[in-house]
Amino acid sequence: MADAYVPGLEGVPVTESKISFIDGKKGILEYRGVPIQVLAEKSTFEETAYLLLWGKFPARGELEQFDQELRSHRRVKYGILDLIKCLPNTSHPMDILQACVAALGTYYSARDVADKEENHRSVIRLIAKLPTIVAAFERIRRGDEPVRPRDDLSHSANFLWMLTEREPDPLAVRIMDVCLVLHAEHTMNASTFGGLVTASTLANPYSVASSAVGVLSGPLHGGANEEVVIMLREIGSVEKVRPYIEELIRAKTRIMGVGHRVYKVKDPRAPILQRLAEQLFSQKGESPLYRIASEVERVVVEHLGAKGIYPNVDFYSGIVYDKLGIPLDQFTPIFAISRVAGWMAHWLEQMERNRLFRPEEIYTGEHDLPYIPLERR
Ligand code: SDX
Repeated sequence: MADAYVPGLEGVPVTESKISFIDGKKGILEYRGVPIQVLAEKSTFEETAYLLLWGKFPARGELEQFDQELRSHRRVKYGILDLIKCLPNTSHPMDILQACVAALGTYYSARDVADKEENHRSVIRLIAKLPTIVAAFERIRRGDEPVRPRDDLSHSANFLWMLTEREPDPLAVRIMDVCLVLHAEHTMNASTFGGLVTASTLANPYSVASSAVGVLSGPLHGGANEEVVIMLREIGSVEKVRPYIEELIRAKTRIMGVGHRVYKVKDPRAPILQRLAEQLFSQKGESPLYRIASEVERVVVEHLGAKGIYPNVDFYSGIVYDKLGIPLDQFTPIFAISRVAGWMAHWLEQMERNRLFRPEEIYTGEHDLPYIPLERR
């Protein structure tokens, strides 16, 4: 047994992995050894997902087959759509997503995780179907019928199609695809860890993904992107940034979108998202939120930079999604439809050499106490 309790397992390795690498001091992120900047510029979500899952760039035929498999598994059973219609349309989309991902498992007998062919089918279904579930809830809560997935569109283009039922704009597709690449994987983040704890009992992959969705939904993790935009809207103008942020710092209130357990410099994904935002602004006009966000970054770094607190991936992503016309509470589900690739990569890797996660605790209670009868309490 380790000799000391480490809050939040900070700095404690819980596995060995070849899937991604972070250097928190230098601001480096690599997927299978490839720098995130290179993948954001040159790759697609489909190709990046393949790289994460199987550790190599796919040859043309492999990529075409993987892409075709995803396209042909985008539809969900009508029961999933009926389930969405039965749940409150005021629900948070992450709660709907978690319920539906678990429900997916009721349709597919994936309980034998030693069956590699079934595991492959589960990975394809989860990556292919999460966007359909997210888009279906968006349509249903507006009173519309879900839009059927199209097999002639890429992963990102099809997601935007199902959200809007309009031919997606090429710039919006490219920007969405880069966002999905950026959010696909990030070593042992909380949602990946939560999924792997579930996986370690040999639970089925739909339960693994459902656990991970639940973990991602929290504001300290994937839920921060939504909170950032709420904060920026509340600040309202560049002039109000300094007093607003300095008050949060004085009150020791967590500022959303900044700080990170690993990065002690600016998250390398943040400047890529800033450039995406700027590309969007050149076509669709600037977002007032962006200037406010830039001033928030300046004030935060001025006060907290010395403590290693800088913008993380969630700080600018919401501004991009907002400019794409995506509703605020759908920002984290977009994080999930991307990160499911990383969750599944780690699941496959763990199933090769699984060991049950069962940590210890340091007991601080008492021992051997007597029973106290009711009349004496
Ligand atoms: C993601 O893990 C991953 O890889 C996650 C992710 C991924 O791709 O999977 O990168 C995605 O989840 C990004 C993070 C999104 N969350 C937020 O933006 C929420 C706001 N950030 C914080 O809550 C915080 O920074 C955490 C939770 C992200 C990390 O916090 P830690 O590592 O537990 O740090 P800590 O609580 O020990 O704080 C250390 C110090 C404290 O000051 P002191 O008490 O020592 O004086 O830094 C301060 C904290 O008060 N601090 C902050 C702060 N984050 C840390 N102060 C103000 N605002 C913040 N956001």
